[in-house]
Amino acid sequence: MTSTGESTSTSIGIEDLELAASHHVLDLGALAEARGVDPAKYTRGIGLDEMGVVAADEDVVSLGASAASRLLARTGTEGLRTVLFATESGVDQSKSGAVIVHGLLGLPSSVRSVELKQACYAGAAAVQTAIGIVARRPQEKVLVIAADVARYGLGTSGEPTQGAGAVALLIAADPALLAIDPVSGVYSADVDDFWRPNDSTTALVNGRLSISAYKNALLGAWDDLQAQGGPGVDELDAVVYHQPFTKMAVKAQRFLDQHTGGRLDPEALEQGAVYDRRLGNTYTASLWAGLAALLDHRDGLGGRRIGLFSYGSGSAGEMLTGTVQPGYARPERAAATRAALDERVPVTVAEYEELHERLLGSDEDVETPRVTTAPFRFAGVQEGARKYVATA
Ligand code: CAA
Repeated sequence: MTSTGESTSTSIGIEDLELAASHHVLDLGALAEARGVDPAKYTRGIGLDEMGVVAADEDVVSLGASAASRLLARTGTEGLRTVLFATESGVDQSKSGAVIVHGLLGLPSSVRSVELKQACYAGAAAVQTAIGIVARRPQEKVLVIAADVARYGLGTSGEPTQGAGAVALLIAADPALLAIDPVSGVYSADVDDFWRPNDSTTALVNGRLSISAYKNALLGAWDDLQAQGGPGVDELDAVVYHQPFTKMAVKAQRFLDQHTGGRLDPEALEQGAVYDRRLGNTYTASLWAGLAALLDHRDGLGGRRIGLFSYGSGSAGEMLTGTVQPGYARPERAAATRAALDERVPVTVAEYEELHERLLGSDEDVETPRVTTAPFRFAGVQEGARKYVATA
């Protein structure tokens, strides 16, 4: 530590994390039937069983605030000086979700708040930004929230790969869960594989191109990791991937195995897919939901190194690595996550379609119906501004 309180070499990473699910869930078997598709295409072909559907009084801010409040109830807020909100489906073109969450959580004014965007990659960018902040002053902590509601048009090929969820992560020095390595592999390329124009509430996507763009980013990031002196494939116990649909992780691992000549453990793919199979695509949160699932379902990870691949269309990729800390297994957190997924209220396809098409403008005051039982809800629009309240 220097005289200005800066540190040069400290282990930094994830102290704790918490996942929030949406109030509703849609069974993809029912969606397949309604669309005249063999259900096995969804469950086996793309690897999704369910997708989260937000209630009329939920959005990325309410999901993110709910995840963060449960996380901070465990960890406390001492040292917290930054909130970073990563999302593709932000609720305002100017005001960040971070500043709204900051207010909902009652954090002191001496906390900076900002939102980050690069499709599904922004969660990893927020984690790296957080690590940089903690590296400068290890007594500081950063709350990272990755939250998204994935939306494609009704009846499109992207439709079964929608979903909703949020993961809140506390980034700190000497972390209890995962120490993230200073070296990572990065990749950027300007590609129109998936994007969402300012006047569209649903994403536009070129499905085939998106899979090849993902592959290019994965292999490019991997090669950069090696060029930077990062760990080789035989030093990784498992890799967890961004999972827009869990079969994408299976494809990704195949691409990586072919590229490196190694063989990463296929069992880890299933362990890392347990939550994403039920959430659907959660864009920025997907990788971190995958990490939560791996930590909750894979034994013997303490002291072992894992890889984390983040992909955001458009496109940006990053391969991070880190060492799982001894004592990482938290049966209570795993049970709470399972309960959050199990307790979602099923909707029919007709109800899902109605919610999907229910969009609020900013030109008239609206009060949303009280549906969610999560800690925070989106209460409606007043004079063009979105209002949020605690449910309790
Ligand atoms: N039983 C079992 N499997 C079946 C089946 C059946 N009856 N019918 C089809 N399948 C299999 C197919 O063989 C195929 O498997 P492989 O890819 O392993 O060959 C799989 O199901 C999907 O079938 P199709 O390719 O025919 O499906 P599709 O054309 O309807 O679209 C998709 C699939 C391109 C993923 C589409 O859902 C989509 O565009 N999704 C959004 C884009 C996306 O998620 N891209 C991923 C990379 S981009 C990214 O990661 C960022 C992000 O979050 C968006």
